[in-house]
Amino acid sequence: MQRFYCFVVVVVLLWESWVTADPQTTLLNSGCSQYNVSDTSAFVATLNETLADLRSSLSSKAADSSASRFATAQRPRTTEPIYALFQCRAYLSSTDCLACLSVAEVGIRRCGNANGARVIYDGCILRYESSIFFDQTTVIGNTGICNGSAASNSGFSEAAKALVRDLTIATPRISGFFAAVERDGVFAVAQCVETVNEEGCAQCLTVADANIGGCPPDTDGRAVDAGCFMRYSSKSFFLANQTVDLSQFLSSGKSNKKVAIIGGVVGGICGLLLLGIIALLWIKRSRKRQGGRTGDLLGATELRGPLNFHYKDLKAATNNFSEKNKLGEGGFGDVYKGTLKNGKTVAVKRLAIAQTSRAKADFKSEVKLISNVHHRNLVRLLGCSSKGQDLLLVYEYMANSSLNKFIFGDRQGFLNWKQRFNIIVGMARGLAYLHQEFHVCIIHRDIKSSNILLDDDFQPRIADFGLARLLPEDKSHLSTKFAGTLGYTAPEYAIHGQLSEKVDTYSFGVVVLEIISGRKSNDAKLEPITQYLLEWAWKLYESGDSINLVDKSLDPREYTPEEMKRIIKIALLCTQSTVSARPTMSEVVVLLLSEGDQDMLRPTRPTFIDATSRVHGDASASTGSSSTSNATVSASQFSGR
Ligand SMILES: *[C@@H]1O[C@H](CO)[C@@H](O)[C@H](O)[C@H]1NC(C)=O
Ligand SMILES: *[C@@H]1O[C@H](CO)[C@@H](O)[C@H](O)[C@H]1NC(C)=O
Ligand SMILES: *[C@@H]1O[C@H](CO)[C@@H](O)[C@H](O)[C@H]1NC(C)=O
Ligand SMILES: *[C@@H]1O[C@H](CO)[C@@H](O)[C@H](O)[C@H]1NC(C)=O
Repeated sequence: MQRFYCFVVVVVLLWESWVTADPQTTLLNSGCSQYNVSDTSAFVATLNETLADLRSSLSSKAADSSASRFATAQRPRTTEPIYALFQCRAYLSSTDCLACLSVAEVGIRRCGNANGARVIYDGCILRYESSIFFDQTTVIGNTGICNGSAASNSGFSEAAKALVRDLTIATPRISGFFAAVERDGVFAVAQCVETVNEEGCAQCLTVADANIGGCPPDTDGRAVDAGCFMRYSSKSFFLANQTVDLSQFLSSGKSNKKVAIIGGVVGGICGLLLLGIIALLWIKRSRKRQGGRTGDLLGATELRGPLNFHYKDLKAATNNFSEKNKLGEGGFGDVYKGTLKNGKTVAVKRLAIAQTSRAKADFKSEVKLISNVHHRNLVRLLGCSSKGQDLLLVYEYMANSSLNKFIFGDRQGFLNWKQRFNIIVGMARGLAYLHQEFHVCIIHRDIKSSNILLDDDFQPRIADFGLARLLPEDKSHLSTKFAGTLGYTAPEYAIHGQLSEKVDTYSFGVVVLEIISGRKSNDAKLEPITQYLLEWAWKLYESGDSINLVDKSLDPREYTPEEMKRIIKIALLCTQSTVSARPTMSEVVVLLLSEGDQDMLRPTRPTFIDATSRVHGDASASTGSSSTSNATVSASQFSGR
């Protein structure tokens, strides 16, 4: 027994000297932050220093098997702060590890002066950010990479899945968070970065397991993420004597495991030695962990790009798209609640668009774009599936459903004025981001209260942005399906198909009126005479009576009449028929947040469109009789929606 542990210690110490002479620099994943640094020369100097730090820290620790494969370096108090992390797969020799770092350094510099970047190879990972990210485990963009050829051996799939599952359980319990195993003709490794804790490692590998789990029967599969890596293959990619026996780490609880190991070890000098090593590693790890815990900021680059889901997994997650799981029917298809294998609840949208090859290509480029949109007032796209029979989009799940339920649905009257005002400001911020701050101007085209979801804190999250571009493009808007909804759509878009970001400003104004009044924009049954919300709001405003628009369920002590009139005025300004008279969404944010009366703003009478396609209002919006007939055609496009 003692001889066995002596052997283990010797093996640990000898790990170093095994040489495979292959740094395994197949590039698996890379990404650059979309933000550039402001001081390029300071940045380059700091980056050079940080990379040099990583190299020297790896080289100096050559005697310690695990530490020589992992290093972090940081320069937080410089003009352009940099935090960097590097890790080699533990089966690489130290020479190969440094060779992989050299390749990674060249690779990561391709991001130029981006303030964050990552390169992930088979042999190593290098990443830097402008804020600390060392404690990140699983982040958006985590993905599986399957290699095309199917294994001929029939038992391979099961063996690969079983081995990956065992690695997921065992690796977090192994000191150094690394394991390489050969079993039933499958070769596999799993590894976590050393700056996460056991729980974080387990969490990351669970996601990796789900990502790689769809790969068999392919002969090769990999899963990449911020905090971990997994790979299996039918061919060996590490030396046979670098493997570990998983069984001791798989057995029941981890406390039993510790007792068993410690119990077996005490007695021999070798055992004490081993304990010493474990203790040292443990102290070092927990110190590093403390460093990692200080910042919870997400880095500027998360692993970007959409996550590809397997069709069958999403089908299973939504109980085969069952009626019971249906959350709603949107303009682009039905939405289902789904529970992924890792327990996460998501919303799956099944797109109702034709599956031509053109549509699929558009889908991919659009999904890539949307998956990079990160804003707290926009619903996050987690991933997609385009391989199965449907085009599917996977979004984060919003427990509080959509705004319309809270204004005129079953939870009418639930929101107080402060919450409603926050929703108005949040919507404006989200739209301003889409229009002006994101690097591509995204026009939503279908802003309405059912497209505004609410998170746990009743903060608004705009849904369905970017999708309108997937609808077939056609020169003549009259034969095109409109990406709009009656009652919310700006007249120039509904009638003439003229698209600008002011189309969203208009719809935003309508939603604000709905939030204030608690009435549906396209419900014509408003008292005392039949008229639509916008028309009614305008008439009240014109007669100096706009306070009568306010939802009777709101407590009058929560708002001042001046404040309310000011917001109504802003809403009416947004719904002006002359496009240029409408403010941009960032101007709207400023208007909403600047208190006091904005006397210089004088909204004029909006154009009204109703279900019977009568166009009334000032002449500037419509161009004579022909537009009236156009409006009839346009409105019929909506009726099916
Ligand atoms: C960042 O800099 C690169 C050139 O180094 C440029 O191509 C890119 O457009 C810049 N990105 C932004 C968001 O300014
Ligand atoms: C940083 O390193 C690169 C690549 O080694 C080199 O070309 C460049 O001159 C260095 N810049 C500075 C400011 O040290
Ligand atoms: C898949 O991986 C195997 C083993 O590494 C390799 O021989 C084969 O060429 C790969 N196939 C593809 C399509 O990449
Ligand atoms: C592991 O295998 C390699 C190559 O076969 C060999 O050079 C090395 O000595 C082996 N190490 C041990 C501890 O057996």
